[in-house]
Amino acid sequence: MDKAKFPTVTLASGQHIPILGLGMSHHGGYSHNALLYGLRNCGIRHIDTAKRYGNEAFVGKAIAESGVNREELWITTKLWPGDYGYQNTIQACLGSCERLGLEYLDLYLMHWPDAHVPGKTAREIRAETWQAMEDLYRRGICRSIGVSNFLIHHLEQLKEDCSLVPHLNQVEFHPFQRPHKLLDYCRRNNIVLGGYCPLAKGQALTHPVVLQLANRYERTPAQICIRWSIQNGVVTIPKSTKEDRIRENCEVFDFHLEQKDMECISSLHSNRKLIHLTYPLWRG
Ligand SMILES: NC(=O)c1ccc[n+]([C@@H]2O[C@H](COP(=O)([O-])OP(=O)(O)OC[C@H]3O[C@@H](n4cnc5c(N)ncnc54)[C@H](OP(=O)(O)O)[C@@H]3O)[C@@H](O)[C@H]2O)c1
Repeated sequence: MDKAKFPTVTLASGQHIPILGLGMSHHGGYSHNALLYGLRNCGIRHIDTAKRYGNEAFVGKAIAESGVNREELWITTKLWPGDYGYQNTIQACLGSCERLGLEYLDLYLMHWPDAHVPGKTAREIRAETWQAMEDLYRRGICRSIGVSNFLIHHLEQLKEDCSLVPHLNQVEFHPFQRPHKLLDYCRRNNIVLGGYCPLAKGQALTHPVVLQLANRYERTPAQICIRWSIQNGVVTIPKSTKEDRIRENCEVFDFHLEQKDMECISSLHSNRKLIHLTYPLWRG
């Protein structure tokens, strides 16, 4: 079924994820009114949250208030490494569903590859956790399952240790961070790439190349960055707490970047990463 006013990408699960979603990271705060505005006025049908962001209950409240049918929505949330392990994963997923007020999740992601469990290797704990993810998928509690921040070797190990390949891998993706080898690997293995920080947290919006293209296409710098990410086939989830910016970030389906301009933006890749884990993974 059509989940969105926006184009969708089909995952190996057979589910269709809207290629544009709204990020809900805890950095920079949460705006109930902005989320409602996105749902009611901008065609947002895809929301990306996580247990770690501490706002699943707020998102659940906004979903209920929005009046949008559940079947039209795509809700992604994430399992924090502190909850890795078979039983913990099942419990954590049910907890996220309860806070969101949902009977099922559209997509559940392992938030980071690494976890610290005494007496087990990270590879063992990833495999055990992924087996629980597979069971949640088979039980229909999660309609699609995936991972986040996984590198090629993590995905290769999972392929050897488990039976299902993740449906999506969500990683940092913006003009300064285009992980082309991972993108190629995911394409070859039927794993859709999800891209976070598409605006490089705002840092890409003042780059001269982005500004020049914005001027030429008569678009904003944010629209250029989002369009570039989408034209890479990447599921893109910009965050904003401001109504006018959410609208702006959604207005990216009525223009097309020429191939030479796509390449121009891709050439800005400098392997700059904005997201680093700075706290122990086992904490809440
Ligand atoms: N899986 C992971 O490990 C992971 C890690 C990081 C992020 N994520 C997900 O990805 C989402 C997006 O990443 P992000 O929030 O870190 O970065 P981002 O989307 O690249 O940038 C968000 C920042 O840009 C500003 N902004 C948004 N639209 C704008 C516009 N049109 N013009 C000017 N400024 C604009 C926002 O400020 P205002 O709010 O003031 O508009 C905010 O400060 C997150 O919310 C989260 O859902 C996942």
